[in-house]
Amino acid sequence: MGTIHLEGLEKWFGDNQVIKGVDLDINEGEFVIFVGPSGCGKSTLLRLISGLEEASRGTIVIDGKDVTALPPSGRGLAMVFQSYALYPHMSVRENMGFALKTAGLPKAERDEAVEEIARTLKLEDYLDRKPKELSGGQRQRVAIGRSIVREPAAFLFDEPLSNLDAALRVEMRFEIAKLHERLRSTMIYVTHDQVEAMTLADKIVVLQAGKIEQVGSPRDLYENPQNLFVAQFIGSPKMNVMPVSTIDGTLKLKGQGTITPPTPEAKAATQIGIRPEHIRLGDKDGAHVTGRVELVEYLGADQYLYVDAEGVGRLLMRLSGLETVKQGSTVYLHFEESLVHYFAEDGKALPRFASAAAEPA
Ligand SMILES: Nc1ncnc2c1ncn2[C@@H]1O[C@H](COP(=O)(O)OP(=O)(O)O)[C@@H](O)[C@H]1O
Ligand SMILES: [Mg+2]
Repeated sequence: MGTIHLEGLEKWFGDNQVIKGVDLDINEGEFVIFVGPSGCGKSTLLRLISGLEEASRGTIVIDGKDVTALPPSGRGLAMVFQSYALYPHMSVRENMGFALKTAGLPKAERDEAVEEIARTLKLEDYLDRKPKELSGGQRQRVAIGRSIVREPAAFLFDEPLSNLDAALRVEMRFEIAKLHERLRSTMIYVTHDQVEAMTLADKIVVLQAGKIEQVGSPRDLYENPQNLFVAQFIGSPKMNVMPVSTIDGTLKLKGQGTITPPTPEAKAATQIGIRPEHIRLGDKDGAHVTGRVELVEYLGADQYLYVDAEGVGRLLMRLSGLETVKQGSTVYLHFEESLVHYFAEDGKALPRFASAAAEPA
């Protein structure tokens, strides 16, 4: 239950192609997150899977069955809308049993089913309350409970937390993670918030302009982005990228120091990347970059240093909040060389490890 296979999926709105050939496999019980900038096609892709939009080309297979031509009701999926989609005048029990009532199930069976789901969702104590007497998290669980009774193959969420304030978002994120742990159902979740993506997903799908840029676990995407887009989209603050030129097999940062590429392929890099958290302050000797502190953003636990460096431009580094660095001072930046990323002219990442280099492309 809950495997989804997309093949060559395309969507055109008039002559505007919004989804440009998506192939994707989602496994049973997986928590999959679609992430990408606004307008990249996340909602459209979710709506294609749900059947709310019709595919222009390609195939959608759910649990081995081709559902491409079926309406939403024939696909066995649950689109979980925000809490306002609950019936305000009905109790939690009535809200959750509504689908079973319309299906003509007798009251005793309905109550039994609802109570069982209420136990799974930890809502037993709230069955007689109205939605307005519940917290945001509880309401979300009722909305999910309402769809669970239909035993969907997967739950689909479209930015369910985007209207909440920061504190409630954190709380709800935790709730959703716990819920997935309890239900073990396939979930597809759309967000533009990379913290949500990183913390919730088994598998992140990074989209840009209607195409998949990379699919992988949060750690995969952070450690081994396959191109510049993913490298700079995943991770906050984002990865620093600088141009380099090759001189006798080493890479020279314009107007600054040098880096020895770890693989033969990496010698072809025209740009390198280093994350703000992988730069440290050190001595002049052996520094990769020398620059001037343009601005210090103190955040308590951390501080962000904006360093203006000749030739490479502005770099951002993350430093512990305990250290003291003066705005306007000269600093010597040392990159963790094993954590430097190498990119070809076209933005493709070049292998950083000899083992990866041995694998076929
Ligand atoms: N019903 C529609 N008709 C025409 N264009 C649409 C429609 N729905 C979405 N689009 C366009 O498709 C693109 C992707 O939209 P969407 O999937 O909502 O992006 P996201 O959810 O990633 O922000 C946007 O350019 C949007 O304007
Ligand atoms: Mg959207």
